[in-house]
Amino acid sequence: MVKEPDVHLMKHYNDVVNYIDRAQKKNENLLDFAGRAVRAENKKRLTSKIEGVEAHLTDLENLMNESIIDFYSKHFKPKELVDDNETLHQDSFVLRYFPNIARDWFHNTGENQNYAEKLKEFGKLKGKCLVLGSGASRLAYDLAELNPELEVVATDLNYLALHIAEKINRGEQLELHHLPRYPISSDKICIKLKSEKKTSLSNLHFINCDFREIQFQTMSFDYVLAPWFFDVIEIPLEVSLSRVNSFLKSEGKMIYWGPYSFQEYGEEVEYTPEEVSEISLESGFKKIDSRIDEFPYLVDPFNAQSRMEKLFWGVYEKNKHYKLEEIRRTYKKTPDWILDHSQVIPLDQDILNRKQVYDLYNQIYQEIDGKVTLKSLSKEIAKKLGMEPAQIKALLELHFEKVYQDLISS
Ligand SMILES: C[S@@+](CC[C@H](N)C(=O)[O-])C[C@H]1O[C@@H](n2cnc3c(N)ncnc32)[C@H](O)[C@@H]1O
Repeated sequence: MVKEPDVHLMKHYNDVVNYIDRAQKKNENLLDFAGRAVRAENKKRLTSKIEGVEAHLTDLENLMNESIIDFYSKHFKPKELVDDNETLHQDSFVLRYFPNIARDWFHNTGENQNYAEKLKEFGKLKGKCLVLGSGASRLAYDLAELNPELEVVATDLNYLALHIAEKINRGEQLELHHLPRYPISSDKICIKLKSEKKTSLSNLHFINCDFREIQFQTMSFDYVLAPWFFDVIEIPLEVSLSRVNSFLKSEGKMIYWGPYSFQEYGEEVEYTPEEVSEISLESGFKKIDSRIDEFPYLVDPFNAQSRMEKLFWGVYEKNKHYKLEEIRRTYKKTPDWILDHSQVIPLDQDILNRKQVYDLYNQIYQEIDGKVTLKSLSKEIAKKLGMEPAQIKALLELHFEKVYQDLISS
């Protein structure tokens, strides 16, 4: 497997460590959202969950080359890699990807195989196929198995999911702890699962990468599949599609399925199915097929909840070639001086505003030495800035309140 630095794995590892730490502290004085002490059953449940996450951590250590973990543990403190916005709110991030791994290799519900079946409508596939955001890569595996003349390249940002897929493709059987989101009974809070034994396929390859950055050779793939993918990528749809365009051979096919509403990143980037098709046409594709289908989603025999998902299914053929350089330039958000490193960074109002804010916070945090109070800090900063201490105190109170709220809401 080609792999980039293990920062994502370490981020995950640190999330797990932090989760256990916080959950243990929380469990010492567990209150519900109305501030009442919780029932003994809930306390027991959280204890089982912590044990489950600890077992998950041990799974990780067993799965990974321990020296990597040791290396990072020595060089990074857990909090350094954690992005507060993403991880501190809920425990869900810690285990977010896990239902996909369990569904792909451990539950044997056949859910992901539905998509491989659906792709049979294109007949026997040959050539090279890129799977974007392949996650635990069961679909990529099934495709490679069904189409021996197809070279399948599974790509994802999540190192662990790919690592698991790679081990399974080497014929290994894995044992992992699984924590269903809504356990069907109190003895199913944490379950040890064993993966299926699979035959090793030589036409399946893995690349751990960020789709927003990876540069594949232009015109090198016959198919690009994007299962449940474009809606999670934080770049405009037309940029994603133009990137896919540049990797595809002439008349190569792009097949996308997943939610057609991209609202996670704001209402301004919500699309209807017709708009997805229109943007595809503008990004050098001809529409072959587009429809709405319904599939079961993340069915888990140990979970008391599951859902049917209505989703967009679109098949497009490349009819115009885009060069990567062109794509970057059409990405309006990126100014020329970021693309062309010999240009000066303009000292415009946006940069000046940023500079002021960072300078201010820099000064504030420099003063915090474990001895200052909010009162003395406000006085000191106000003196430096020629402002009223009361004004600064109100600002700092708000700022630290937010920092503190973010921490306890985890
Ligand atoms: C909604 S999941 C879908 C996973 C899989 N295709 C499936 O159907 O179960 C989206 C996947 O995209 C991956 N992903 C998110 N951002 C990515 C990026 N910038 N580059 C590569 N993969 C990314 C995530 O790690 C995740 O596995």
